[in-house]
Amino acid sequence: MGATDTQAPAGAALPRHVAIIMDGNGRWAEQRGLARHAGHKQGIPIVRMCIEECVRRGIGALTLFAFSSENWRRPEAEVSQLMTLFVESIEREVPELHANGVRLRVIGDRHTLGVRLQARVAEAEHETRANTRLALQVALSYGGRWDILQATRSLAQAVASGSLRAADIDESRFGAALELAGLPDPDLFIRTGGERRISNFLLWNLAYTELWFTDVLWPDFGVDAFAEALGCFASRERRFGLTGAQRGAAASA
Ligand code: FPP
Repeated sequence: MGATDTQAPAGAALPRHVAIIMDGNGRWAEQRGLARHAGHKQGIPIVRMCIEECVRRGIGALTLFAFSSENWRRPEAEVSQLMTLFVESIEREVPELHANGVRLRVIGDRHTLGVRLQARVAEAEHETRANTRLALQVALSYGGRWDILQATRSLAQAVASGSLRAADIDESRFGAALELAGLPDPDLFIRTGGERRISNFLLWNLAYTELWFTDVLWPDFGVDAFAEALGCFASRERRFGLTGAQRGAAASA
């Protein structure tokens, strides 16, 4: 029996949606005396592995934090290299993503991205829009507070124009104005690289998400580590504010 089998037995609860903060690229490179960008490049095959694992296992949605609204404050050269890496990765990977039924969408403040990246994103989203096997969200220039603000602004505009009553704004309507509209909230959040925080990722959507942290740096995050996170998720009792007995009764009803 392989590591994958021992860590997540067949039939174990599978997350419908996994969200990942891919941290540790810079340190991975610095530990080897390389430029930080080498770590970002080394992270690409790990992104591919996670996508393949989600498709293979039947996980319907994967959201990756690739560039935060705060990452703009990094040195200009690193930002520019990252943007080039995003353009090149999209150009190179989209044909295979499309062939495998993956729908790609970017979440975040896309107007702050360069015109070339915006164009590649728009093309990739259009080409893969009808795919249903995996919904892949790449967060670029994304911040959880920004997301809540843009949703609030759009609902306020609807109220101001008379198409929505303030009293009708509930969790469901608010969720529908956020970037992850139409997707289930992440069931499992993974963060590599040793930090134990959310760092302004999907603040609204992570309310009841199971959190899993590892010290492993992103370029070293392998298929066994992903299986370990899934195995840990399968062993968690999710109560959503209810008692264990209530959850048990609901499950057997
Ligand atoms: C955080 O590590 C990582 C990033 C800011 C970039 C992550 C991007 C990729 C892995 C490429 C993904 C590409 C696509 C198209 C999805 P860090 O630089 O903060 O590492 P450190 O904490 O060690 O400094």
